[in-house]
Amino acid sequence: MHSLLFGEDGVSQASIATGRRLFMKNCTSCHGKDGRGDTPLGRVLKTIPDFTSSVVQSKSNQELFKFITQGKPPMPSYKHLSEEERMDLVHFIRTFSREGNQ
Ligand code: HEC
Repeated sequence: MHSLLFGEDGVSQASIATGRRLFMKNCTSCHGKDGRGDTPLGRVLKTIPDFTSSVVQSKSNQELFKFITQGKPPMPSYKHLSEEERMDLVHFIRTFSREGNQ
């Protein structure tokens, strides 16, 4: 299904927009605006993943959601965000796999 409101998996653009906003606020210091982790902090954290890679994109929404909820040092837990907001973040992370969808 292609439309302005919904992406391929029926994910709403509103969800992706909220995910983007939350990501820019909470996550870019380590993960970078492009999700590649190529930031001064990300480079120090050797385990920083590349969100554009298949390593990350092959994971299920549930796995990514769980990771954001629990965190893993040095990444903090984001369980203070609502479930919906954490799912919005997962949907936004998915956009890193699709070129030109920024
Ligand atoms: C302090 C730096 C830092 C911040 C801030 C941070 N992360 Fe992370 N993140 C990491 C590191 C380091 C890892 C790798 C952890 C590991 O596997 O050992 C990681 C891993 C992840 C993974 C797992 C990827 C995979 O391959 O399974 C996801 C998803 C993720 N981060 C999302 C987020 C989101 C969303 C935010 C903001 C809400 C965020 N991170 C904020 C450092 C950070």
